[in-house]
Amino acid sequence: MNGEEINIQWYPGHMTKARRMIEENIAQVDAVCELLDARIPMASANPDIKKLAAGKPRLVIINRADLADEKITERWKRHFEADGASVIVTDAKSGRGTGAFVPAVRKLLADKIKAYEEKGQTGRTLRIMILGIPNVGKSTFINRVAGRKAAIASDKPGVTRGKQWIALDKGIDLLDTPGILWPKFESRETGELLAITNAIKSDVFDIEALGANFMLRLRNYYPGAIEARYKFTPDPEANGYELLEEGAKHRGFLVSKGEYDTERMARTLINEYHDGKLGRLSLEVPDEGPVGA
Ligand code: G4P
Repeated sequence: MNGEEINIQWYPGHMTKARRMIEENIAQVDAVCELLDARIPMASANPDIKKLAAGKPRLVIINRADLADEKITERWKRHFEADGASVIVTDAKSGRGTGAFVPAVRKLLADKIKAYEEKGQTGRTLRIMILGIPNVGKSTFINRVAGRKAAIASDKPGVTRGKQWIALDKGIDLLDTPGILWPKFESRETGELLAITNAIKSDVFDIEALGANFMLRLRNYYPGAIEARYKFTPDPEANGYELLEEGAKHRGFLVSKGEYDTERMARTLINEYHDGKLGRLSLEVPDEGPVGA
């Protein structure tokens, strides 16, 4: 990928509204908690998070960990800890790891809890702002930690909700915010990683180009995943389109005699990655950046 500057104008006005809402509400919370997609912890992070958090303690939740390479996720955990955040690793869908949330909040805010106690405010409710790009799993996570259907989960990229407070039984209130993204992707690469992982609509890009680029990444970093799923050994010299064609051949995606449906193959590849059928593949590595680029 060439990392060229792009400006994808899919960014709707409500995202700007969400950012404003965060700025307006930050003073009311004790800590900020950002959910990241374990497969793309950089691309799914808000680059302005430190500024928006305005010096508040930060908790990073590396979610969708069931879809990412465990060893790489562990490295990301250390990476964010070194950057001053507390970190937990979760799979909100199954609930795995979510039990660590309340203890992590209490540990993160131990000094604050002590200060409240000293002021005679023992048991004062802790307020946490939950942030994250659309579709990263905020509603699912909140439902898990709240232990009931507190928020409505949806899988529609860009769908947003108004601000709402959710009380946990444990003296913690969560401020749920609509997903916030940034007005313009810093690079085409970030946009592509978001599209491959379903955070933004893949039709922002040419689907074949997206699939071809994804094939190349896989060939360069996870060739075994292509072999296992599509039953061919990717040629180290082939370009992304040729790899898509090879995949289409093995799947029998024929347009006409001798012509293969690379577009269908691109969609299949992205959908199957989304469904975890290619295995647990992380697409970004700490200190290295996106895989196979
Ligand atoms: P949002 O509030 O941040 O927008 O996200 P939401 O909770 O609505 O979750 C979006 C989708 O992601 C849901 O999928 C949800 O089940 C799934 N999800 C959330 N957390 C995890 C996780 O840790 N691992 C996995 N594998 N999925 C997670 P959905 O609507 O059921 O559809 P689908 O994405 O499964 O196809």
